[in-house]
Amino acid sequence: MKRYWRVPVIANIKTEKEEKPEGVPPDAFADFDTIETINQLRAAIESEGHRTTFIMADQNIPFALQEFKPDICFNMAEGLGGDAREAQIPALLELMRIPYTGSRVLTNGISLDKTLTKRIWRDRNLPVAPFQEFISGDEPLRSDLKFPLFVKPAREGTGMGVDTNAIVNSEKDLRERAVYIINTYEQPALVETFLPGREFTVGILGRKDAHLFGRHPDWYEKDGYHRFPILEIASSRSITPQVYSRAAKAQEVGAEGAPDFYCPADLEPEVVKKLNHLALRAHNVLNALDYSRTDVRFDGEGNPRLLEINTLPGLTLGYSDLCLQAEAEGISYNDLVLEILYLGASRWGMVAPREVPLNQPRKKTAPLNK
Ligand SMILES: Nc1ncnc2c1ncn2[C@@H]1O[C@H](COP(=O)(O)OP(=O)(O)OP(=O)(O)O)[C@@H](O)[C@H]1O
Ligand SMILES: [Mg+2]
Repeated sequence: MKRYWRVPVIANIKTEKEEKPEGVPPDAFADFDTIETINQLRAAIESEGHRTTFIMADQNIPFALQEFKPDICFNMAEGLGGDAREAQIPALLELMRIPYTGSRVLTNGISLDKTLTKRIWRDRNLPVAPFQEFISGDEPLRSDLKFPLFVKPAREGTGMGVDTNAIVNSEKDLRERAVYIINTYEQPALVETFLPGREFTVGILGRKDAHLFGRHPDWYEKDGYHRFPILEIASSRSITPQVYSRAAKAQEVGAEGAPDFYCPADLEPEVVKKLNHLALRAHNVLNALDYSRTDVRFDGEGNPRLLEINTLPGLTLGYSDLCLQAEAEGISYNDLVLEILYLGASRWGMVAPREVPLNQPRKKTAPLNK
């Protein structure tokens, strides 16, 4: 088995001049990475002796891949256009039979679409706020949706299309906002009950056999999963009180106008257990792999409601929610990134399983049937 791998980091990055094609929304590409993040990821992967490069996730990628000949790709790509852009690179890599980290095609396609995700969760009795998808903007409003409502693009991330105007109090404002989202983002608007309570994000790492393949078997609980300390995002003092908006997400942690982050969140142990349980089910119901971050908000009665899952969460050192969560429990950035890499690689047979001490009595051999 090869000890050192060739690992391109695949991503879409923000260009210096932010040249935006005509007709794209004002916050287009907000979810793209910066070259600094790519360099942090590369340094983390190289710290274990692997060889890296950066490959841009655009139309030239098949050629770049053929030239670099990766053993495994570290996938961070948001993709470009279409209705499931986060699934584009995984689909291409599967076509080219190249291993990659994290969730696969179907999961990344579905998790980008918040409406589809919530339909699946609701079907499995996971708690979500009542919701309705608007495609034209003049659909009759369903009677179980009571104002105030919250309107957001169905298939964006990083708070794109989300600001305080997302909260609507009348039918007129609802229709105006829905039409604005549909036209600007060229996709359906997801309308949900406004959840006025506290907001959290819950990070998951691992899978059933993670202790056999991860670099840190001690991180995992008996079921093979690691639960990061829960991060609370308190927006009351942010530039967009009540909402973790695009503008709030653009602030540096600790800067004026940024939300307050508390990690671990001040919660009763049974609430922590409940949120972790919900996030893990949310992850597994969608067949997410190795790592994810699920966003949750409390409703008016303090009941948790799942907002969305990020199967390609940001990994910017000292900034991205998952990195803050790892940092809060003393997990270094390099260890976090390498764990994602090794868990991914082990699914493609690139990591030998760790020998587990045989401290349990061996099962008796079943008697032979005559
Ligand atoms: N139903 C709701 N009620 C109240 N606030 C909401 C609701 N839906 C979303 N929000 C607010 O808008 C923010 C962004 O929404 P959401 O997490 O669904 O989208 P996102 O932009 O994809 O986020 P991410 O950056 O995590 O990918 C949430 O963090 C929350 O503050
Ligand atoms: Mg979110």
